[in-house]
Amino acid sequence: MKNFTDINSIGNWRKAVEDALEVKRNRFAFKHLGTDRTMLMIFFNSSLRTRLSTQKAAMNLGMNTMVLDVNQGAWKLETERGVIMDGDKPEHLLEAIPVMGCYCDVIGVRSFASLTDRDADYSEVILNQFIRYSGRPVVSLESATRHPLQSFADLITIEEYKTKERPKVVLTWAPHPRPLPQAVANSFTEWMKATDYEFVITHPEGYELAPEFTAGVTVEYDREKAFAGADFVYAKNWSAYNQPNYGKVLSTDRSWTVDERIMGLTDNARFMHCLPVRRGMIVTDDVIESPQSIVIPEAANREISAQTVLKKILEELPA
Ligand code: CP
Repeated sequence: MKNFTDINSIGNWRKAVEDALEVKRNRFAFKHLGTDRTMLMIFFNSSLRTRLSTQKAAMNLGMNTMVLDVNQGAWKLETERGVIMDGDKPEHLLEAIPVMGCYCDVIGVRSFASLTDRDADYSEVILNQFIRYSGRPVVSLESATRHPLQSFADLITIEEYKTKERPKVVLTWAPHPRPLPQAVANSFTEWMKATDYEFVITHPEGYELAPEFTAGVTVEYDREKAFAGADFVYAKNWSAYNQPNYGKVLSTDRSWTVDERIMGLTDNARFMHCLPVRRGMIVTDDVIESPQSIVIPEAANREISAQTVLKKILEELPA
């Protein structure tokens, strides 16, 4: 694997899950792969799970790790070409990226959507600059449009907890006070489409995701119908994709909060969320604390998805 940016990076999803479960059974068996290799993780945005799980995954593989928070202690970076750099950004990303590439063997990048310029966000300017100019394999730690390490962990978790060959999985929008990117929802949709699960998205009108992700997917605006008989409920907020509302919060309607009543319509569904989650907005305390909630094992599988991806990258790195 050269780069890990989306579902296409992973190949056959069943084989990828098998590989992940093998890593999970014996996560310290591959330490030799990372000896004298360095992983650099660049964060343009905050993180708890991605930072810790990816660093742990790299350490399990024997790698050295370095973490740079671009907005804390590093030079502020200009990302646009053709600008006169007379403002508060003393370094350009186009020099910073190859310099960072000099110090490591693999680069992980977290760079969220701006939510102001849809075309720029959906062309993945920053992630693609890292791929083009770093000279190193690049792992997305969540980009403007996708969060593939999260989706891979979600898939592993569903495979571990499913009790039917083809479970019904529902992705439900839920309210949040601030505008959030569509990346987790896009990515989860992309990975669920690759499986043979029954997959349904439900959201209020106006929250349609990009057609490039939802083509062929059932979108059910009637939330109760969507939840009926579900085996997994994946809650997530996202801001509007469609223009002229791109990046806006259109609703904070708490009737979309996942509560015990709506979960009662499911087939005793497991509750999932990528975390961090706002209780009382996305989900009630009762649901997230219930035995059906698998948010913690889901987060634990972030280490496994990251290690599986890094292992594949290391196996293909030139000596
Ligand atoms: N789910 C997830 O990516 O969490 P962090 O933002 O804390 O990394």
